[in-house]
Amino acid sequence: MISRRRAGLTLVIINRCGPKSKDRLFYDRSMTSIPVRPDRTVDRFDPDPIKSFTMAASLYTDPAVAERERTAIFADSWQWVGHASDVAGVGDYFTVSVADERIFVIRSADGELRAFFNVCLHRGHSLLQGSGTLNGLITCPYHAWVYESTGALKGARMSDRMPDFDVEDFRLADVVVEDFCGFIFVHLGTAPEPMDICYPGLRDVVAAIHPNPASLSLARETLFDIAANWKNVGDNLLECYHCHTTHKDFVDLIDMSGYRNETFERWSVQAGPSRPTSEVYEVTSGAQAFASIFTWPNVSFGQLPGHRGIFMFHFVPSGPETTMQRLAYYSPDGEVSESEEDAFDYFNEVLGPEDVALVEDVQIGLRSMGYHQGKFICIPERPEISEHAVHHFHSMVLEALGMS
Ligand code: FES
Ligand SMILES: [Fe+2]
Repeated sequence: MISRRRAGLTLVIINRCGPKSKDRLFYDRSMTSIPVRPDRTVDRFDPDPIKSFTMAASLYTDPAVAERERTAIFADSWQWVGHASDVAGVGDYFTVSVADERIFVIRSADGELRAFFNVCLHRGHSLLQGSGTLNGLITCPYHAWVYESTGALKGARMSDRMPDFDVEDFRLADVVVEDFCGFIFVHLGTAPEPMDICYPGLRDVVAAIHPNPASLSLARETLFDIAANWKNVGDNLLECYHCHTTHKDFVDLIDMSGYRNETFERWSVQAGPSRPTSEVYEVTSGAQAFASIFTWPNVSFGQLPGHRGIFMFHFVPSGPETTMQRLAYYSPDGEVSESEEDAFDYFNEVLGPEDVALVEDVQIGLRSMGYHQGKFICIPERPEISEHAVHHFHSMVLEALGMS
C-alpha cells in the first residue's frame, strides 16, 4: 500500500519536473519566475498559537532528531508501561523497552512495586524475558548470578573465593516507577517530579472517566504498525479539524456542537457527548461520551461511547518515520460488553484505519520539497475544530529539544 503510494509520488514528480517533460507549466512563456519553494531556513513557530506556524517538517523525518528525542523526550518523561493488574501478586513481573532501554517491572517480595534496568551487573546479559511470576529469586541465565526481587545481589558463583567481592556493590540499577490511577508509568531520570506535580489536575480528569481505574484489567489490545513519525500520529490525535472531512461516522456518533478541547500543563483534553441515536453503533450501556486525555509525550487515557473502562492510546517511535501504536482497553471485569465490542469494531475497522491512512499520507508530504511548515487553525473561542492542542504539543516538543 505504502510502496504503491510512494511509486505514485515518484511518477508525479517525473511527469511534472523531468527535463524532457512537455508539461504545460514547464513551457509556459507567461511564466516570469520559477515557482517559489518554501524557505527551509526560516522557522515561524510562535509561542502564540494564533500567530504560529507548525513545527518544521524536518523534525518528522530527520534520524538525528529521532535520536535526540530518545534521550531528551522518551528518557526524560513519564512513560506508560502497563497496569497494576499486570503485577498484582508478589513475584509478578513484565519486561518492556523504554527509550531503547530494557526494563522490568516487578511486585517485589515485600509487596512494593519496583522497576529495574533489565541488565545483569556481571557482564550485561538481560535477566528476565516476557512476563510471568517469579518463584522467589532472579537468576541470570548467563552465569547464574542471583538477585533478590528487591534488586539486591544475593550471590555470585565462586565469589567467596574473591578477596574483594562485596555483594553490596552490585545492587540492580532501579528505575523510578509510579502507580498513577492504577496505570504504571516509569521515568528513566534519577529524580523526576511525581506525576501529580508534573501533570497538575490530570488525576481528577482521569477519575471523571472512571472512578476506580485501579480496579480495571486488560480486555482487548490492538497494535498498528504505522509508516509515520510518532509526532505526526500525535498531531492527528490532538485535533478534530479533520473530523468533519475524514471521519463521517465519528461526527455521526459524537455531538460535535458539545465537543471541546482544552490544554493544561503537559496534558490536554478533547471530549464530547455521544448522539442519542447514531447509525454507527448502538450504545446500550457504558459511557455516553467520547474523551481523550493526552498526557505528554505519547499516551492518552480515553473512552469511546459504550465503554465502561479506560482505553489507552499509546504511540511509540519504532524508527525515525515509523510508529507502533498500541490500543489497550481496560474494563471492569476484563471482558467486553456488546457496546464495547461494537466500539472496538468501529475503532479497528473504521476510525483507526482512517487515521492511519491520513498520517501515512502526511508523512510522505512532510518529506516533500514543496513543504516546510504549515499554519495552525487556532480560533480564540476554541470551537471543536481548533488546533490549540497540536500547538501545545509542538511547544512541548520544541522545549524538550531545546529549540524554543
Ligand atoms: S551476565 Fe549475568 S551472570 Fe554473567
Ligand atoms: Fe482522526
